[in-house]
Amino acid sequence: MSSQNITPKSVVELHLRINGAECHLMVDARSSLLDVLREELQMTGTKKGCDHGQCGACTVHLDGRRALACLTLAASVRGEVTTIEGLATEAALHPMQQAFIDFDAFQCGYCTSGQIMSAISCVQEGNAGSDDEVREHMSGNLCRCGAYSHIVAAIRHVASAQSSDARNDCLDAIFRMPMRHQASTRPRLHADRIRPWLTGMADDNR
Ligand code: FES
Ligand code: FES
Repeated sequence: MSSQNITPKSVVELHLRINGAECHLMVDARSSLLDVLREELQMTGTKKGCDHGQCGACTVHLDGRRALACLTLAASVRGEVTTIEGLATEAALHPMQQAFIDFDAFQCGYCTSGQIMSAISCVQEGNAGSDDEVREHMSGNLCRCGAYSHIVAAIRHVASAQSSDARNDCLDAIFRMPMRHQASTRPRLHADRIRPWLTGMADDNR
């Protein structure tokens, strides 16, 4: 190949806000957000599956909306980036992470971080009113292990819990009475083993 065919690599300075933290770094201007997260920042919770926008494994939130990090030019990002590592607090998992545990909604775990990020958006977008609706709006997230039915169940559980909470908040406001919330009676399945996959902290070199 002649030197005329080689595109000179240009470096740009990035100012990203990721999970509430400011990140400043110099990267190749052609870098995808996925490569910046995984290769530059070692945030490997966001997975690389196809790298072509076809599997959903790399799903993150940009200003609260789901986006495929493999198709997002890092230099174009202006708002807040939220990844799987940014969902849980010190005290608790995000309700969607907990639901994936409670409903056994994964096997190998490789698609799970992307599934959870999309699932949160699916509920927030109001597209979790039925199993069919969930399937349609989660169709961009593939699972090679075929955990789809459990994933749908987890999402439907969170959606119904949120609508129930909203209804209780409304009643509470009307009657000024504290509402009693039912504690989940579902067993918490091998939480220690699977928590790393759900929070993006799994040791992942893939
Ligand atoms: S890695 Fe981004 S869609 Fe597959
Ligand atoms: S749990 Fe293995 S790919 Fe989805």
